[in-house]
Amino acid sequence: MPMQKYEYMSNVWRDGIFENKVVFCTGGAGSICSAQVRAMVHLGANACIIGRNVQKTENMARDIETARKGSRVLGLGGVDVRSPEALAKAAEKCAKELGAIDFVIAGAAGNFLATIDQLSPNAMKSVIDIDVLGSYNTLKATLPYLVESAAKHKTDGRTPPANGTGGRIIFVSATLHYSGTPLQTHASVAKAGVDAMAMAVAIEQGPKGITSNVIAPGPIAETEGIARLSKASAKEHAKGIPSGRWGTVKEIADATIYLFSDSGNYVNGSTVVVDGGQWHMAGIG
Ligand code: HXC
Repeated sequence: MPMQKYEYMSNVWRDGIFENKVVFCTGGAGSICSAQVRAMVHLGANACIIGRNVQKTENMARDIETARKGSRVLGLGGVDVRSPEALAKAAEKCAKELGAIDFVIAGAAGNFLATIDQLSPNAMKSVIDIDVLGSYNTLKATLPYLVESAAKHKTDGRTPPANGTGGRIIFVSATLHYSGTPLQTHASVAKAGVDAMAMAVAIEQGPKGITSNVIAPGPIAETEGIARLSKASAKEHAKGIPSGRWGTVKEIADATIYLFSDSGNYVNGSTVVVDGGQWHMAGIG
């Protein structure tokens, strides 16, 4: 059998791989998700970012637009992922103004440090509502568009897609629930739910050409998460991380490009943990 010719340079790792594609992202004004979207725009995509804070979301959209000349980035503020109606409207506006939704990043999350005795029923509910129901609402609002996009890239079922990708969703999760994390019951329960949803979607919607995966960031420098959750300094904290440092938002963006590009064609129902090996250290240190 002749060796297959590799076409990495021309096919996958090239400028413009997401040209004429649209990414829809909740939590898009945040430090991690804005980096994910910026990388997609840098490689050709247009984008729609969703956030609760109007000014912050619109400002971030303008800022991301500078990643590539001629790109369009809609910033839809005032949208709470806990509202299915608001998300449905946002998805409709995105598709109307940008023409499609090919990729989705379900990134909105809520968190704080609290022991169970400090955690009121409403506090627990708020985090589950934002993380679990918010991800569900994001998926529900965008799934018809993802299915439409996936159909454009579907092949005979034996060969990988050859004309770019679409119909893909990434849920941004965490590693908190891989072990017991004190002060994080609410977020651990919520992220376990998010992971379960991503896997179910992968199995159920996979035959339509959809891929559904999870990115689980560890401690990432210069993020709201680390500001809210880490009491230790970066140097102190790094002692518990095999790679010896906090991660960068670029490293989460790179994982995103992997999953959304041709590189990730056959990756479905997976979790890409980007944490410098930290969760394997649970219980040590
Ligand atoms: C205990 C708290 C609390 C705290 C809020 N609550 N902060 N309880 N400790 N520090 C309680 C409130 O008292 C209230 O309960 C309930 O939570 C809801 O709070 P509200 O402020 O009314 O709700 P809301 O405005 O909807 O805010 C939601 C939120 C907030 C989750 C509480 O923190 C938020 O909006 N966060 C969004 C941004 C964010 O958290 N980003 C970081 C994600 S980091 P009562 O009983 O008083 O009514 C992340 C990384 C994870 O996800 C992995 C890292 C490794």
